[in-house]
Amino acid sequence: MIRTQLLGIGSYVPDRVVKNDEIRHLNDRHVAQEAVLTETDDAWIQQRTGIKERRYVAEGTYTSDLALEASRRALADAGVAAEEIDCIIFATLSPDIHFPGSGVYLQRKLGIADKTQCPCFDIRQQCSGFVYGLQMADAFIKTGTYRRILLVGAEVHSHSLDYSTRGRDVMVLFGDGAGAVVLGPKESDDPRDGVVYTRAAADGTGAEYLYLKVFDISKAPYLQYDPKDREHNQMMYPHMDGKRVYVRAVREMNLATQKALADTGLTWADIDWFVPHQANLRINEQVAQLAQIPPEKCLNTIQFYGNTTAATVPLTIDHWRQAGKVKKGDLVLSTVFGSGFTWGAAIFRV
Ligand code: UT7
Repeated sequence: MIRTQLLGIGSYVPDRVVKNDEIRHLNDRHVAQEAVLTETDDAWIQQRTGIKERRYVAEGTYTSDLALEASRRALADAGVAAEEIDCIIFATLSPDIHFPGSGVYLQRKLGIADKTQCPCFDIRQQCSGFVYGLQMADAFIKTGTYRRILLVGAEVHSHSLDYSTRGRDVMVLFGDGAGAVVLGPKESDDPRDGVVYTRAAADGTGAEYLYLKVFDISKAPYLQYDPKDREHNQMMYPHMDGKRVYVRAVREMNLATQKALADTGLTWADIDWFVPHQANLRINEQVAQLAQIPPEKCLNTIQFYGNTTAATVPLTIDHWRQAGKVKKGDLVLSTVFGSGFTWGAAIFRV
């Protein structure tokens, strides 16, 4: 039977490292000022989230630019030419512009727009985007719809954060980055080959606990923005009820992890790595404890990159692969949770 195989993986983060001590001095254009503009500190950020630093793009860099670099690396790793891609799935909450979606920009930047005219899907499941996209790709490949799918998670968060004490609970968490995988079919009867399992879930009653309302259609035309009056610019920034999101994230990620094992009959002896979404190191540690995951199998990168939303899973796998930990053929269990609420889990061979 046809199974879906990961042919290659790649990631990309911008060069600029923003450490916790620097972030307190940044203005809206990410330029460090002498004055402290946000009351926060390294100890609070590290203790509550595990984050030490994150990456920021240079001005004028789009999400599709980060996606392009990650995609090139994934294609090279797969030994697949860009022209062979017959479908792009682009997961992001920070598209280049409101529409069209970023997938078509990535297609164009890859130089394959007129050559392939491949379909470009943009999906909007925030931190769960990679697992949702993997489920789509798996279905497309198993049904023979497409043979070379480029699945990308990429985000530029730094341009839409509230650089002030008012926004500190969200602002310190996020970073810019991208991760990509190339997927294709493989004839195999081994149920533990390739993509073994995907499950996606959502609960829309949680939509108001983490959101960015910049395109709220009840406002015409979209937003009333006054650059001189920060108080009236709430729609420009993401908002989160952190405690509520935290509690639900621990619950759903634990349950989704346990369900993935129950549904497949696999145990931690079969799985090489647990790669959770990277929103908060404390969330991941609690999930690992509840789901009884061996600590040495848990991979995190939030310390280095902060929360890169749809990019965290492929970015974390690729980071630890480059460090020599993750090897080709290893079995990964990944669990994600984010705005929506959305969540999911997947088990796949890298
Ligand atoms: O990726 C999508 C999913 N996202 C998540 O899963 C995130 C889930 N939530 C969280 O990770 C945590 O709730 C946060 C890290 C966002 C916040 O941690 P917390 O332990 O829930 O803190 P809190 O919001 O209850 O705030 C505690 C205190 C408050 O001060 P008071 O009222 O106790 O005086 C905040 O104003 O910490 C203050 N605070 C900060 N202080 C310094 C909030 N943000 C900051 C900050 N620096 N950046």
